[in-house]
Amino acid sequence: MGGLKGSLKNLLALCVLVGFVAISNQANTPCVLREYSTGLVCVCNATYCDYLENPTLENEKEFVVVSSSKAGLRFDTTTGIINASDFTPIVDYNEKVTPKESVFGKATRKVTIQVDRETRFQKITGFGGSFTGAVSYILENLSQDIQDHIYKSFYSENGIGFNLMRTSIGGSDFDLAPWAYNEFPENETTLSNFTKLDPRDEKRIEQIKRLKLVTNVQNLRIKGAAWSSPRWMKTNNKWTGRSRLRKEYYQTWADYHLRWLELWEEAGLPIWGISTGNEPTNGVAFMIFVKFMSLGWTPSKQAVWLSDNLGPTIRAKYKDLVIFGNDDQRYTYAFWFKLMKAKRPDSVDYLTGLAVHWYWDEIFEPVFIDVARKEMPDKIMLITESCIGDKPWESAKPLLGSWKRGEKFARNFLQDLQHDFNGWIDWNIVLDEQGGPNYVNNFVDAPSVANMTTLNEFYKQPMFYTMGQFSKFAPEGSTRIAAERTNINVDTVAFLRPDGSVAVVVYNSGYSSVNVEILDKKQGSIKITIPQRSIHTVLYN
Ligand SMILES: *[C@@H]1O[C@H](CO)[C@@H](O)[C@H](O)[C@H]1NC(C)=O
Ligand SMILES: *[C@@H]1O[C@H](CO)[C@@H](O)[C@H](O)[C@H]1NC(C)=O
Ligand SMILES: *[C@@H]1O[C@H](CO)[C@@H](O)[C@H](O)[C@H]1NC(C)=O
Ligand SMILES: *[C@@H]1O[C@H](CO)[C@@H](O)[C@H](O)[C@H]1NC(C)=O
Ligand SMILES: *[C@@H]1O[C@H](CO)[C@@H](O)[C@H](O)[C@H]1NC(C)=O
Ligand SMILES: *[C@@H]1O[C@H](CO)[C@@H](O)[C@H](O)[C@H]1NC(C)=O
Repeated sequence: MGGLKGSLKNLLALCVLVGFVAISNQANTPCVLREYSTGLVCVCNATYCDYLENPTLENEKEFVVVSSSKAGLRFDTTTGIINASDFTPIVDYNEKVTPKESVFGKATRKVTIQVDRETRFQKITGFGGSFTGAVSYILENLSQDIQDHIYKSFYSENGIGFNLMRTSIGGSDFDLAPWAYNEFPENETTLSNFTKLDPRDEKRIEQIKRLKLVTNVQNLRIKGAAWSSPRWMKTNNKWTGRSRLRKEYYQTWADYHLRWLELWEEAGLPIWGISTGNEPTNGVAFMIFVKFMSLGWTPSKQAVWLSDNLGPTIRAKYKDLVIFGNDDQRYTYAFWFKLMKAKRPDSVDYLTGLAVHWYWDEIFEPVFIDVARKEMPDKIMLITESCIGDKPWESAKPLLGSWKRGEKFARNFLQDLQHDFNGWIDWNIVLDEQGGPNYVNNFVDAPSVANMTTLNEFYKQPMFYTMGQFSKFAPEGSTRIAAERTNINVDTVAFLRPDGSVAVVVYNSGYSSVNVEILDKKQGSIKITIPQRSIHTVLYN
């Protein structure tokens, strides 16, 4: 036994050494961990931030595992050999720091994952975050170097490779104040005061252009959504509360969207998609909880507006713009499109996308989505908003280093990708320590948090890495392929990537290590031992 332990230790030392050489060649920078009472974050400042170049597979026999864990792995890489008889250990962070008696290969729990690249499902459109007024404000206050690290962390290939972005048309709750274009003059269908962009949008556009420059993101796809029209277009003449769009402004509200698209395009950022409006039920049924900008729509009224006004107006100029429907919670999916179709059968034909917000997904089962998906299999289906801290029983303030929150994202990315989603857009890419700014104090957590006291650091949360385990390794154009597990010891989803290689995400939510064997009909067997509370992406040809 002693001899075996010794040779395992040597093997481990060798692995670490080989890993180190490979890493230094690629000029990768590891995470600088910092412990808070709530967990571990990676700290970035003006001169330092962690990045990982996409691992290259040296040959047909090699596999690479990229790992994150509660104990502190953050995109650590391990390589192994396909068809090896032994399990390759993924060494957890605490064991790297203080090696203990080896537990490698001793895991009693075991799972086999059968990957079949011939059984194919949806294509991946991409992953992203949101560029709200709050994000824009925070970035403006940080030094250019720190801004650039935030952009690169999310949107560069060495970061987590986002390619999608959501932004508000006018204001949202994540702004310093509610706002819309052409608030004045009132009651005016020509929108005479909406001929140029608001300075807040000009700032945002300048920042997004900088983001494109420093990240070299290919094919950035921006999606817009309006939270509210100018107040005078609404029945209640208020930013929030129970409201509808006044019938006499149906065409004006469609023209408003067209004008916004034209102005962003003229400013050099063509828009990829819009939705029919953020969370329409907030102005119909949820006014008690929602105190921020909203515009209420019932599905049948929205069907009329889409069919008579928005659809024809947009399609006359932007034939390929993706128009997303709903942009609201999962539980509305069962009835929303049915009622739209009942009112105006052609209304849903204008929609080329289905947008869903994540917030209640752990209560409402995916069957709500599956029904709509079955009827509309060709539309792009995305989560378009998600964040933690919105519920009364949760801490609204960012919990620095919360692995539990990171895992929540991991679980739900897995579920939605297994249910044919084409991608996921998260909410604010960065917020302050309070989870704002937000003009109605609707504070929440974010995947990165800036130190707005000293403006010298930002912290990358576990959520950043658990999202990255998917977004970084299943780029646009990847196809989900079958991955069947023999038991629930781990959860999994697999992709065939545009370069022909395979990425298998494996998530262990349990409190002990698991021996995982991935069986691929073409390549053979990959055996790894993964630690407790960890998530991994296995890459191979
Ligand atoms: C930035 O972070 C790096 C890595 O942790 C550290 O060595 C350096 O001192 C930090 N710079 C400042 C100005 O704090
Ligand atoms: C951010 O910058 C604005 C404008 O310069 C300033 O008014 C504000 O106080 C700054 N906020 C923080 C948190 O530094
Ligand atoms: C146009 O909008 C700007 C910005 O909101 C406002 O200051 C100005 O008074 C408006 N012009 C008219 C004619 O209402
Ligand atoms: C705009 O229309 C509303 C409703 O018809 C009316 O109450 C209001 O006085 C009008 N505002 C102006 C500036 O004409
Ligand atoms: C922000 O930086 C200051 C100064 O270094 C520090 O005292 C404070 O704890 C930091 N905030 C967080 C959330 O780490
Ligand atoms: C692994 O073994 C299987 C079965 O013997 C074989 O078909 C496959 O080619 C092997 N894979 C590699 C990468 O050598």
